[in-house]
Amino acid sequence: MEIEIKSDSDITAAEREQTDDCLRRAFWGLTDFHYQWSEADWHVMVRVDGTLVSYLAIIERVGAVNDRPVKLGGIGGVATLPEWRGRGLASIAMEKAAAFMKDELGVEFGLLLVDEATAPFYRRLGWELVPGPLVFDQPGARRPSRVDHGPAVWGARMAAGND
Ligand SMILES: CC(C)(COP(=O)(O)OP(=O)(O)OC[C@H]1O[C@@H](n2cnc3c(N)ncnc32)[C@H](O)[C@@H]1OP(=O)(O)O)[C@@H](O)C(=O)NCCC(=O)NCCS
Repeated sequence: MEIEIKSDSDITAAEREQTDDCLRRAFWGLTDFHYQWSEADWHVMVRVDGTLVSYLAIIERVGAVNDRPVKLGGIGGVATLPEWRGRGLASIAMEKAAAFMKDELGVEFGLLLVDEATAPFYRRLGWELVPGPLVFDQPGARRPSRVDHGPAVWGARMAAGND
């Protein structure tokens, strides 16, 4: 098993095809939250014998927490090919991403959106549910979108790493 993190500008056309394919296969049949998601700034790729089997994207942003500007590391597109699930691969990718965001990118908070079903997976890795609304812009929208802490969609953030 190999794990590699590459910036979006360094990724090859073949790697982009593999990550797109992994996302398509992993999310097949799942509805998303109907948001337009940002493009990845960094790609975390887990390969076994050269095949991309697990993937996630990191997005760098400056946001505000209680009106204070903070550097955020967004996590998106967490995906493992169906036949490779349950072997800890996404957990490894998440741990690597948290360490990279903290040590290399200097982010103060990780940020991801989860539903209730997948929340336990992230909790186990040290992510915490942050109560209170999450407000963000969407292209073409006149007003910011808002996610409230509720049963359907949660905004979750953590200090990158576990401290
Ligand atoms: C979520 C996902 C990335 C996990 O990948 P993985 O490589 O199997 O993850 P790991 O092996 O590190 O951990 C799996 C654990 O997470 C739990 N888990 C993952 N998805 C879950 C879900 N939707 N509901 C409940 N538990 C879930 C599994 O039960 C498993 O727990 P166990 O080890 O006690 O059995 C993979 O299931 C996937 O690609 N799902 C479809 C896409 C998706 O929903 N992505 C997350 C969007 S927030």
